[in-house]
Amino acid sequence: MNDHYGDRVAFQQSIEGTIPESIFYDFEHRHQLENEDIVLRAEVDRTSVFEEIVGVSSSLRSVLSEVSQVAPTDSTVLITGETGTGKELIARAIHKRSRRSSKPFVSVNCAAIPPSLIASELFGHEKGAFTGAVQRRQGRFELADGGTIFLDEIGELTPEIQVMLLRVLQEREFERLGGSRPIRVNVRVIAATNRDLDAAIDDGRFRSDLYYRLNVFPVELPPLRERLEDIPLLVEYFTNRMARHAGKTISTIRKRALSLLQSYDWPGNVRELQNVVERAVIFSDSDSLQIDEQWLSGPRSRSTVGLRPPIVQRRTLATQRKDAIEAALLESKGRVSGPFGAATLLGIPSSTLESKIKLLNIDKRRFKPQVINWSAGSSFSHAKTNLA
Ligand SMILES: Nc1ncnc2c1ncn2[C@@H]1O[C@H](COP(=O)(O)OP(=O)(O)O)[C@@H](O)[C@H]1O
Ligand SMILES: [Mg+2]
Repeated sequence: MNDHYGDRVAFQQSIEGTIPESIFYDFEHRHQLENEDIVLRAEVDRTSVFEEIVGVSSSLRSVLSEVSQVAPTDSTVLITGETGTGKELIARAIHKRSRRSSKPFVSVNCAAIPPSLIASELFGHEKGAFTGAVQRRQGRFELADGGTIFLDEIGELTPEIQVMLLRVLQEREFERLGGSRPIRVNVRVIAATNRDLDAAIDDGRFRSDLYYRLNVFPVELPPLRERLEDIPLLVEYFTNRMARHAGKTISTIRKRALSLLQSYDWPGNVRELQNVVERAVIFSDSDSLQIDEQWLSGPRSRSTVGLRPPIVQRRTLATQRKDAIEAALLESKGRVSGPFGAATLLGIPSSTLESKIKLLNIDKRRFKPQVINWSAGSSFSHAKTNLA
């Protein structure tokens, strides 16, 4: 092992065997020998951070093996998982390993685009199609021609757009808004959702025929709390990356800090862990990564689950009411899903609670603990993502 990897070794030793022997797992190289880890690491250092998938848990490994199976096909993939579990990362990995890799990967967040604009965004419009359509504009499907379109938060699409999308999936053609000529595209579709689409179908909010078209090859990403063995590796990976950006050397972490990270339930999953590590790196003034317990906004330990007073649990019958939901959000510090989330407290599915929150116009961010905005002025723009 050469000197270049000295830091990493110290990091590993400091956490006394909690890092598995094969410290980096990359699906492209999983058949290679363990003693080639160093080479892998060097490759990791050279590639884009967005396309790296770190972890050793068996659940992540099986996701990655599914990814390598489905990538070279043209099949539609539906990725499900809580926010921050790496759905977009996986979608990019599928594209990267497909025959389409040299063509565009176009990502569309269906929840971020106002419903009135989404049709034009996806399918484009002709000049004069609507007020303000001063020029012809290509939609994202056209831009993705030959490549992959990633439709994130697919569960948020309105019924009208669901029909349009169904037609594209069935016939591979569509019209621009205000246009009459059908446009044919060759686009692979990868969709993602953090919602329970089955519940949305039952409630009549999502078309079952569209669901079957999308769900050709399902990939389910497990929440981070169900793969705690990935945490040491992810911490090391994010620490190295961010310390390098910040011009610091951080090569160790206390065992206690690590077990703190492994006893938290990570409602924001890997994205939240990444943000916590970023903070820790910014704060750190020694070569050891310090974690402040208060950065973990949820309960300190899963062992407190059973001890929780059943105050809000009795409110189940009143879940229709805004004040009951707000009380539960207050208790859960603004979190909806997860074992300590408001949905669990109220005894209803998180997808149901999410839609009630929307319906009742409740701003769940109000209930989040105040945190300093670390990203302001920070150079790690990729870590700026909001957990909400
Ligand atoms: N296994 C992983 N290894 C490395 N980084 C990860 C992993 N999973 C997620 N991330 C990072 O966490 C963040 C959130 O991932 P993302 O794919 O945007 O999640 P989602 O789309 O499910 O909300 C991104 O910065 C991503 O690079
Ligand atoms: Mg996402």
